[in-house]
Amino acid sequence: MSEAHVLDHPLIQHKLTLMRRKETSTTSFRRLLNEIGALMAYEVTRDTPMQEVEIETPLEPMRAKLIDGKKLVFVPILRAGTGLLDGFLDVVPGARVGHIGLYRDPETLRAVEYYFKMPGGMSERDAIVLDPMLATGNSAVAAIARLKQTRPRSIRMVCLVAAPEGIATLQAAHPDVPIYTAAVDRQLNDHGYIVPGLGDAGDRIFGTK
Ligand code: URA
Repeated sequence: MSEAHVLDHPLIQHKLTLMRRKETSTTSFRRLLNEIGALMAYEVTRDTPMQEVEIETPLEPMRAKLIDGKKLVFVPILRAGTGLLDGFLDVVPGARVGHIGLYRDPETLRAVEYYFKMPGGMSERDAIVLDPMLATGNSAVAAIARLKQTRPRSIRMVCLVAAPEGIATLQAAHPDVPIYTAAVDRQLNDHGYIVPGLGDAGDRIFGTK
């Protein structure tokens, strides 16, 4: 079973509460999501593998640490996942970015891929999948299954708010993928929204309601 880590840093929790409020504007929502993204990036990358290299300071040679392997790859699931991306890139500006676009076929209810683009050298990269809302978990399951075809060294899933149902579904399908979230809310409602949640994350990020 994969682990589900709740990132309970007070700054993350405070900003999430501001985001949840229905009166929070699109501008504020987007800014807060950027800020939380940066804080989450710091936590999620805490155990990134390191290597020791030989360097010279102005005073003497030493062995010092660098992040091992090729650069991290952040993988937002379109479209709401892109809302977390800028905060992650603020903390790791050299990271690569892959995109996954999926829609749900209204007849089969299966996730259908419409966009997929990853950097090269995936076997030497640690991938961090971004999607603010882990609701049913179906799109995260499909996105990670597709991402696994590129054989990244590791995969982590980052969301802002998760439903217990989404966590269970993702853990069952991908027990090797740890989940990082700022909150686990009560449940899904009949429309597949997380309650209490924060509404439609994509609409609130992009002002499309
Ligand atoms: N997607 C959202 O944006 N919000 C939810 O509550 C569930 C899925």
